Amino acid sequence: MKILVLGSGAREHAIITALLREEPRPSVTCAPGNAGIAAEVAVVALDPNDPVAVTDYAVLHSIELVVIGPEAPLVAGVADALRARGIAVFGPDRAAAALEGSKTFAKRIMDAAGVPTGRAVRAGTLAEAEAALDEFGAPYVVKADGLAAGKGVLVTPDRPAALAHATYWLEHGSVLIEEFLDGQEISLFLLSDGQNVLPLSPAQDYKRALDHDAGPNTGGMGAYSPLPWLDEKFGSENKFIDEIIETVALPTVRQLAAEGTPFVGLLYCGLILTDAGIRVIEFNARFGDPETQVVLPRLVTPLSGLLLAAATGTLGALPRPEFSAEVAVTVVLASENYPDTPLIGREISGLTAALTVDGVTIAHAATRVVDGALVSTGGRVLSVVAVGESFAHARARAYEAMGHVSLAGAHFRTDIAARVA
Ligand code: AMP
Ligand code: GLY
Repeated sequence: MKILVLGSGAREHAIITALLREEPRPSVTCAPGNAGIAAEVAVVALDPNDPVAVTDYAVLHSIELVVIGPEAPLVAGVADALRARGIAVFGPDRAAAALEGSKTFAKRIMDAAGVPTGRAVRAGTLAEAEAALDEFGAPYVVKADGLAAGKGVLVTPDRPAALAHATYWLEHGSVLIEEFLDGQEISLFLLSDGQNVLPLSPAQDYKRALDHDAGPNTGGMGAYSPLPWLDEKFGSENKFIDEIIETVALPTVRQLAAEGTPFVGLLYCGLILTDAGIRVIEFNARFGDPETQVVLPRLVTPLSGLLLAAATGTLGALPRPEFSAEVAVTVVLASENYPDTPLIGREISGLTAALTVDGVTIAHAATRVVDGALVSTGGRVLSVVAVGESFAHARARAYEAMGHVSLAGAHFRTDIAARVA
């Protein structure tokens, strides 16, 4: 099968690594990719957000499946353009991708579908925002109502800080003030063909920049999978998954289909397990990063068959994907000053030594080769991924490997998966 993957992050590298593990190996091309991806598959300098360029390329090269990694091409209508030309694509049309891009749209769909979520008020003015903050009380949750690259959300006990965040994002549109939800966070990915869903194994992401969940929100600093504490709370991972399919995923997918905007692609359910039950905090319309780096290494079922079945409306004929009993941990290496204004263009070394640690792979994110040297090109630079028979084992491997990696000024969290090890 000829597959084109769009994107350039560690998520896309992890997707490609999973595809290349298959027998027979699919033929994979990536646009635009990064240095790590380019070392494994052909990369093309194609703008992944340009619907015409992507579609022309896919037609010219007889691509049989396009896998869209990030949200930006979805919002740009790349999936719509590919579908219009009859090319199988894993990723929703622009209208359905609003589930991620517009928090107001997501809330409306959840209300219509009866999906449990936090109460929220949309504010278009500062006065409305203030009234909503006072209605819900502290801690305050303020969210930008559009794509904000993981930086649109502020959770704070500090009312002036909440107001300042609201003021900033009101200049870019509207904001959502939400009730604070307390509990463990879970990321559950479901493949959707527009009607049917198939679950992957759940993961937990570490969103804050610093150890012990201090510091600002980021795109994600590490993750682990599976979640052993689900067994205690739900009896088993499968019982938890059944509940999410029944109460969240299928109602959402059916509501979108009923509104004429079927969701074909990856439904990312961002959940909080509160004392009162599961609540959706957000949907994304794509694989999560860095959760993908810990979910896909455990996937035993060939990924390409699952993605193609979702893209072609035939998921209903497939059994649930299988996962290995191994656990996985990923730790993200971030540039100095990430998530604020990352300092980039610095040399990265030690990857060869890191890869000598058993069970370790490295998913590149913001890397490029310049004059023979590997250099950083963005905030989250790479993900060290380790599998093992226990979390203590996988963590030890991940941190041993990270110890070999050098990048001036870089930082990473030291407590990833500590709570389960
Ligand atoms: P989001 O971009 O909506 O996923 O939010 C980013 C992070 O902010 C989440 O992963 C949570 O840690 C936190 N968060 C978002 N909404 C809430 C909420 N209603 N209550 C508590 N924490 C939240
Ligand atoms: N790890 C959070 C996200 O991908 O949105």
